Amino acid sequence: MSAAINNIEIQKAKTSKISSIDFDNLSFGKVFSDHMLLCVYKDGMWQLPKVVPYQPITLDPSSKIFHYGQSVFEGLKAYKDTDENIWLFRPEDNFRRLNISSKRLSIPELPEDYFMAGLKTLLQVDRDWIPKSEGSSLYIRPFVFASGNGFHASPADEYMFIIATAPSGSYFSGKLKVLIEQTYSRSANGGVGFAKAGGNYAGQFYPTQLAVEKGYQQVIWTDDTTHEYIEEAGAMNIFVRINDTLITAPISDRILDGITRRSILEIAKTENIPVEVRKISVKEVVEASKNGTLKEMFGAGTAAVISPIAAFGHEDKDYDLPTLENSYGALLKKRITDIQTNKSEDPFGWRV
Ligand code: COI
Repeated sequence: MSAAINNIEIQKAKTSKISSIDFDNLSFGKVFSDHMLLCVYKDGMWQLPKVVPYQPITLDPSSKIFHYGQSVFEGLKAYKDTDENIWLFRPEDNFRRLNISSKRLSIPELPEDYFMAGLKTLLQVDRDWIPKSEGSSLYIRPFVFASGNGFHASPADEYMFIIATAPSGSYFSGKLKVLIEQTYSRSANGGVGFAKAGGNYAGQFYPTQLAVEKGYQQVIWTDDTTHEYIEEAGAMNIFVRINDTLITAPISDRILDGITRRSILEIAKTENIPVEVRKISVKEVVEASKNGTLKEMFGAGTAAVISPIAAFGHEDKDYDLPTLENSYGALLKKRITDIQTNKSEDPFGWRV
């Protein structure tokens, strides 16, 4: 769907909160920039997007988002280089995935320009909110939800598309210890696991909380049928290095087509890292840990970039990962963040 827009209305905030923000000590997604993009779907079409002051929204208690969870979102980041240029990383991929998620949740798809031009206009207005310090960025959260009313269990007739942004530091702090989850499932064949639907994340909270109570930070999701194959790490895709081979699970109905995951696979090829995209069994990972061939495990996602896993738990036993000099995770993280922040060439043409 394409509908070009030349001019996006901008309603400026009367005052700015920026002087109250400690840009040297940013946590993840806790403070929000002065403006947001707002776009409403009604009368069968998306109305023109506007940049407005960041503000609470009023919804009727019968809005379908509250009852039936019709809601999808995206996550991407804006970076500022030393010359104050602003960069995005593969934003068209976020746009495309938002519409893939929307379609699965019976939400009307957005025209590309509403997303892309809307995002770029918002970033120009709030450009001072994009942090410059190493490891920080402006986390961008586009989301669409059913604002239309009614208790009937059917798609709403009104929606809101909002892009809110938050200057943010790293998503995780400290070493990541994860539990291989073999009771609960994140997703199932034919389900919505591939979509960035809000409910996919809500469904993770309870099993993750149980894991937290046992001393882990995240769970590793396994397939819902056998629980014998590892699929994702918390809200991230998962990579495992056995000997010198980097392995990740193939995307499916159950697994999110992560943009960081896809980028890692392409960068790894150019670094001559042997890569396999295939099923990874829990048994294989446990055996590899026992015989010393399991070198690394890491999660990959926009918010967390590449997060090394220091240990994993399985059937009441913990397995530590070694600390490596030549870590693939560290190398790939450097390559990807250098591209994102304009510190290196971008042979792939990903930077916008
Ligand atoms: C992201 O990595 O951007 C995500 O959307 C995951 C979210 C749980 C922070």
